[in-house]
Amino acid sequence: MARVFVSAPLPAGAIEALAAAEHEVVVGVAGEGVHGEAFSGGAAMFDALVTLLTDDVDAALLARAPNVKVVANVAVGFDNVDLEAARARGVIVTNTPGVLTEATADLAFAMLLAAARRVVEGDRMIRAGDFVGWAPTLLVGKAVHGASLGIVGMGRIGQAVARRARGFGMHVAYAQTHRLSEPLERALGATWLGVDELFATSDFVSLHCPLTPETRGLVSRARLASMRKGSILVNTARGGCVDEAALAEALDRGPLAAAALDVFADEPIVSPRLIALPNVVLTPHIGSADAPTRRAMASMAVENVLAVLAGKEPLNRVA
Ligand code: GLV
Repeated sequence: MARVFVSAPLPAGAIEALAAAEHEVVVGVAGEGVHGEAFSGGAAMFDALVTLLTDDVDAALLARAPNVKVVANVAVGFDNVDLEAARARGVIVTNTPGVLTEATADLAFAMLLAAARRVVEGDRMIRAGDFVGWAPTLLVGKAVHGASLGIVGMGRIGQAVARRARGFGMHVAYAQTHRLSEPLERALGATWLGVDELFATSDFVSLHCPLTPETRGLVSRARLASMRKGSILVNTARGGCVDEAALAEALDRGPLAAAALDVFADEPIVSPRLIALPNVVLTPHIGSADAPTRRAMASMAVENVLAVLAGKEPLNRVA
């Protein structure tokens, strides 16, 4: 029997699977996670942690929980975990890749369409009682079909977005360090570009890269300034990839027409400057939030914990 700390209540089935394997489970409070009393109270006794992307798993935290053998993050991203600190302590770290690819691509596309066709502005107009009838100039947006989409980070999620974009008649380019194989490029109908060229030549730019030291601030003031007049930025990756102050300026004064943001640099705080702008669609980090996806993420994280506790190699090891 091992003691497992689970950062917050998970979709049905996941915690039960830990209990079924006869492990003792301590569930933290949503919104507190490893930063709350439930963790502090038993830190020294935990053998495994199931963490969320809102948990900062750093060297100090791992030092408080010296028996932990595995940190299973319920997310594909793991920028909240200090991998070096984990390695130094021999702690295995896992994530949940693959199961959230389509859900996240769905949300990215929903955001792209919402920003381009001013869906949220229209909703607000009707609720405010300001819809007085059809007009040729009412809420005219940006055409999606025939437009160019630049995808930054052409991994699983980027590729799923590219497939959707083709269905909408868009021209797809992508930027990442490693070029895809030619057959895959052909199947996706995607052209490989340098990041700067991609920003300067796309009508829409959608981010699908992890947050790393290399991608932090990737959407910089200079890149925003280089974007096409009337272009749109979509971010369902990580807020830290974007210079939010520069984005607010580029939305206010141009060249951007709009942005759609599911992630923010300092969650759950959202920059008041972005909130004040009518041409920004905002969602609260819900890229993977459909019911089967959230169930699959939770059960994958738990499977990883069960594997390590049984002395086996977990399926989704990142460190
Ligand atoms: C969500 O942002 C994830 O990394 O899974």
